[in-house]
Amino acid sequence: MRWSITSKTNRANSFPLPRKPFPKRGYRRWAVPISPAAGTTASGRPVDHHAFDQPRTKTNGARPMQFITEILKDDHDRVLSALDDMLSTSQSQDDTRRQLLDKVRDELELHTSFEEEVFYPEAREATGLDAEINDDLKEHREADMLLDRLSAMSSIGERWMDVAKDLRDALEHHIRDEQNELFPAAEKAIPSDRLQAMSRAYLARKNGEGYRQAG
Ligand SMILES: [Fe+2]
Ligand SMILES: [Fe+2]
Repeated sequence: MRWSITSKTNRANSFPLPRKPFPKRGYRRWAVPISPAAGTTASGRPVDHHAFDQPRTKTNGARPMQFITEILKDDHDRVLSALDDMLSTSQSQDDTRRQLLDKVRDELELHTSFEEEVFYPEAREATGLDAEINDDLKEHREADMLLDRLSAMSSIGERWMDVAKDLRDALEHHIRDEQNELFPAAEKAIPSDRLQAMSRAYLARKNGEGYRQAG
């Protein structure tokens, strides 16, 4: 018997092709229109063009107001950072040192006056931390005194830098006390809406008084 390549090929081509799998039952039920109507998704739902513009949160995307303690902590960071910049300047940078000192003074004036007039009285009543708050008030006066000494010194030399270091140390101690003791106690004892209302009042005061940020 003779076999030709052609006949083998023809025989192979004559095998039935595999059948396409038949759609499962229910397939049509999930079919979607190829050209959905304008303004609808492929499944026929109306298109929400703003669905992903804002994160979906309980506050509908609006950023909640920070607590006053958080804003005061941000001030602390800026003051210490400005003081560090001041301490790392060289002797030839007199103007920079004076400018940074002005920034620290501006920041502290607004910060400590708000603490003394609004935040401390409310925290004192809510937490009963009288001794701590009295210490904090004394430390504010100590910082004022050091700032006055720096401003009064005519030459910005080594002695000036020593006083600047004393100011930084004093403020660091004060800030640590506030952040480790008073602020956590106030956050527990004062209702959230009051902590937020104080933030609004503080920010309004900053804006209304031509506030200048340190750092
Ligand atoms: Fe403070
Ligand atoms: Fe303070």
